[in-house]
Amino acid sequence: MIELTINGKAHRLDADPEMPLLWAIRDLVGLTGTKYGCGVAQCGACTVHVDGVATRSCSIPLQSVAGSKVTTIEALGGSHPLQKAWEEMQVPQCGYCQSGQIMSAAALLQDTPKPTDADIDAAMDGNLCRCGTYPRIKAAIKRAAGVAS
Ligand code: FES
Ligand code: FES
Repeated sequence: MIELTINGKAHRLDADPEMPLLWAIRDLVGLTGTKYGCGVAQCGACTVHVDGVATRSCSIPLQSVAGSKVTTIEALGGSHPLQKAWEEMQVPQCGYCQSGQIMSAAALLQDTPKPTDADIDAAMDGNLCRCGTYPRIKAAIKRAAGVAS
């Protein structure tokens, strides 16, 4: 039995300790906003926060997050400044990568509320978008942070 907190709610999961956190989030807890892309920590589609740190949930075993606080895209609730900026800047194309993009951006703004271009590039570096929405992602992060584009 592995205990952890997801979006403020305590869970006791009867699961293989080696199960990727992503499967637990999606299949055991039923939160499907976090996406599976590559499965090998290379695309960022599965990004969640573990104790406030952006983490690839496809590649971290459940046992290593026991006792941790996990935050998924659902916790942002739809009215987070980043989500508003995403909508205003019409960022998504197919949308598949976007929950991971927003979670990486949310971790960035949590630590660095007024990021520079270099801060944004560094934080978003591993989040891939096959639709090429990178310029709009960057603009939306700046809009949410209230820094000039
Ligand atoms: S699915 Fe986790 S990084 Fe690609
Ligand atoms: S919006 Fe399609 S992969 Fe990013």
